[in-house]
Amino acid sequence: MNSTSQRLVHDPEGLNTATWPAGTDHLVTPVHLFFTRSHAPVPQIDPATWRLEVGGLVDHPKTFSLEELAAFPRRDVTATLVCAGLRRDEFLTLGPLPGELPWGPEAVSTGRWTGVALRDILETVKPGHSASHVEFIGLDRVERLGQRSGFGGSIDLAKALSAEVLLATELNGAPLPPAHGFPLRAVVPGWIGARSVKWLGRIRLSAEPSPNYFQTRAYRFQREIDPRDPRDITAGVALSAVPLNAVILQPTADQVVPAGPLTVRGWAMGSEGCPVATVEVSPDGGCEWVQARISAPGAAWSWSFWEAALQLSPGCHTLVVRATDIAGETQPATLDATWNVKGYNNNAWHRVAVRAE
Ligand code: MTE
Repeated sequence: MNSTSQRLVHDPEGLNTATWPAGTDHLVTPVHLFFTRSHAPVPQIDPATWRLEVGGLVDHPKTFSLEELAAFPRRDVTATLVCAGLRRDEFLTLGPLPGELPWGPEAVSTGRWTGVALRDILETVKPGHSASHVEFIGLDRVERLGQRSGFGGSIDLAKALSAEVLLATELNGAPLPPAHGFPLRAVVPGWIGARSVKWLGRIRLSAEPSPNYFQTRAYRFQREIDPRDPRDITAGVALSAVPLNAVILQPTADQVVPAGPLTVRGWAMGSEGCPVATVEVSPDGGCEWVQARISAPGAAWSWSFWEAALQLSPGCHTLVVRATDIAGETQPATLDATWNVKGYNNNAWHRVAVRAE
């Protein structure tokens, strides 16, 4: 947060919001600065009558109240939630993306999530031998293709059994705010935000991925446009892990900065918890590179903040950042290398044009 920060609102109902410019003071995002991404209005849920149904391919289907969930060991994880639409607006320089929200670099926040481990619940209901996917269904009512249903999606059973995946009742030490999924949401660290289903009402184990619209028709990576229906991405691959990414937070695009020394700041995060090894920043569009310093290292599922000292002569400059993880994975240099039909998971080198005077 800095003095010029404001709440960006991407839709008339105010369901899709974020704060920008973002600061680098706290690795954990205060709740009032957290982004919100919802496909339908927040459902009104009475926690006294709310229940979580867990069924499908399990030996012991069961319904849990909040009190019953609270009897499981309390776990917490600090995890960065990344919307798959992060940095979609950069793709708009290549062409329109009709019907998609033009998120910039603001659709990402880090929370300290508390609740129960999904695997503790799964151990209680005992997944059947043929179960290989875990579907989450929310209690919101989203209209798509003339039908109303809960927002949903699935993760594979191996991820669902990983220690970091929670059913969370708290964000940053307080009950989940309504906009973030009260009374219970899935938190799937390292995977696109869409799999962290809010207002959770049902979990279903199955042999196949979720048939929900948001698994089969959205949040899929497809690079070829289908000429019969240019927005159809059913042939694409369902999105799961968020790719390695690095973003410049300060300065921001088109900012006028003093010529001379400049500290550039931002965040970086590896894919699926893989630590970032190096972050490099270029003052000149990617010819020369300066190694950044990790100023605030994040935990396994969290972003880290970095800063780099540059020297800018008067004039226009394109600042660029790129990260490399400890496995040697790097980011694509250009947008066209990662462009896809709905503009998801943009992790091309982040470029910010500034003028020094
Ligand atoms: N869960 C439900 N039930 N409905 C939704 O619209 N949006 C998803 C996910 N979970 C969504 C949902 C998407 S696309 C993202 S990025 C995250 O929630 C955003 O979580 P937040 O609003 O807490 O930041």
